[in-house]
Amino acid sequence: MTQQEWIERVIKPTLFVVCLIPLALIAWDAFNNHLGANPIEKIMRRTGDWTLRFLLITLAVTPARQLLNLPWLIKLRRMLGLFAFFYAFMHFTNYIWLDQFFDVDEIIKDVIKRKYITIGFASFLLLIPLAITSTNNMVKRLGGKRWQKLHKSVYFIAIGGVIHYLWLVKKDLGDPLIYAVLLAILLGYRVWQRQRKKSLEKEQVAMSPVRSG
Ligand code: HEM
Repeated sequence: MTQQEWIERVIKPTLFVVCLIPLALIAWDAFNNHLGANPIEKIMRRTGDWTLRFLLITLAVTPARQLLNLPWLIKLRRMLGLFAFFYAFMHFTNYIWLDQFFDVDEIIKDVIKRKYITIGFASFLLLIPLAITSTNNMVKRLGGKRWQKLHKSVYFIAIGGVIHYLWLVKKDLGDPLIYAVLLAILLGYRVWQRQRKKSLEKEQVAMSPVRSG
């Protein structure tokens, strides 16, 4: 089997199943009444956690690929990003359906009044264009540069997700702060890498022979 076949036939299907495990566990616990006294809140929390985790895992693909010298990891990024959207969609659906019973007035009031809902809602809305433009066809239609620019907004979405979490917890800031630190490391890596690229480019320009005549 070539590396390409190995990725397509083994790695990707395995990853797909692994990414569904959190959902299966939530469904299992719901089915067996293991979600405690407030199952809707529990589902809200678990789907929220997995949205944030998948966002961070997706953002970790590029650093991991570069630092571990595993270029093929890039082929898994789209699936991971789409799973972030999938869990965000579950989280959002749980909110509008089981939590708010499709009461549009209540939902609008909540989005306006509770700032952690406002930022969560905005982050979810921003994820939609990324999910829609995730296909190869869309990359072609938008052009690589524009596509990349659009998809950089995933950093703002992740920041929004962390702020959403920080604002909703009242006392124990431990968990959201762990996510904040991880995100800061991922962002820091990106900034450092950009600076390095810029200075390398400058060096190359400085070292290139001066054209005469
Ligand atoms: C990218 C988008 C989003 C991310 C990353 C995200 C992430 C999270 C996280 C990490 C939690 C806390 C989980 C825990 O306590 O362990 C949470 C809880 C929650 N989120 Fe989101 N969320 C997003 C979007 C939304 C949206 C669109 C809504 C509703 C409009 C929403 C409403 C809530 C609510 C109501 C809770 C539970 C609060 C409670 O503990 O009672 N979130 N979310």
